[in-house]
Amino acid sequence: MGNMLYEGKAKKVFATDNPDEFLVYFKDDATAFNGVKKGTILNKGVLNNKISAFFFNLLAEHGIPHHFVRLVSDREMLVKKLDILAIEVVMRNITAGSLAKRIGWEEGKKLPVPVVELYYKNDDLGDPLINEYHAKAMGLATDEQLKAIQEYGLKINAILSEYLKGKKLELIDFKLEFGLHNGELLLGDEISPDTCRFWDSETGQKLDKDRFRRDLGDVEEAYKEVLFRLTGEKME
Ligand code: TMP
Ligand code: ASP
Repeated sequence: MGNMLYEGKAKKVFATDNPDEFLVYFKDDATAFNGVKKGTILNKGVLNNKISAFFFNLLAEHGIPHHFVRLVSDREMLVKKLDILAIEVVMRNITAGSLAKRIGWEEGKKLPVPVVELYYKNDDLGDPLINEYHAKAMGLATDEQLKAIQEYGLKINAILSEYLKGKKLELIDFKLEFGLHNGELLLGDEISPDTCRFWDSETGQKLDKDRFRRDLGDVEEAYKEVLFRLTGEKME
């Protein structure tokens, strides 16, 4: 393993022998509310590594360019080196979390159209909501990149929502990050129960990080259930 380049709240990123590729290591550490709440979700690193790999492969089949290269171990994946844009793209289908609070709608209301939100990726500021004008004025992305990441967001939302319906999971909302690899815009980061809200289509049971954020219990079980529904793999 090469030098550690970066340690985030849930992952570590290492250099590899190939200057074009990074190794991502998924930790069990869990945080919420911008790091104020801290804990551990047993085997989360393994589960999120596998779940993310599954989603990246699914998206590749639908023509979405992304950074994932291959799984290296239970907790590690090889990815293409990205210069990450300091923007988080959140896609929403049903009100929950911060949107429910911001607009005063109860959680669980279907939005008539999918909603795209942009956040400035900056921990010191608590990742504030911004719009395209802010992003452009702040030099976070070009017009063309802003258009592309929002279009990708909508397309990814359609692909994942449709797929998950078949697995009896409702895709409530999720967060995406994009970056540049030799000038090419690629989807990066992870797609997992840490970064998505999944509700069981029949019971409405939450199968994502809200179980940790809100102390609902059965956190590991929820992540395992998501992996099982996607891949059929049962983790001990
Ligand atoms: P929110 O309702 O708290 O704004 O979250 C919207 C979605 O974004 C939800 O699926 C969780 C995900 N998310 C992250 O991946 N990272 C974060 O730091 C936050 C706040 C949300
Ligand atoms: N990952 C974020 C944090 O710790 C927030 C969240 O997922 O709720 O701050």
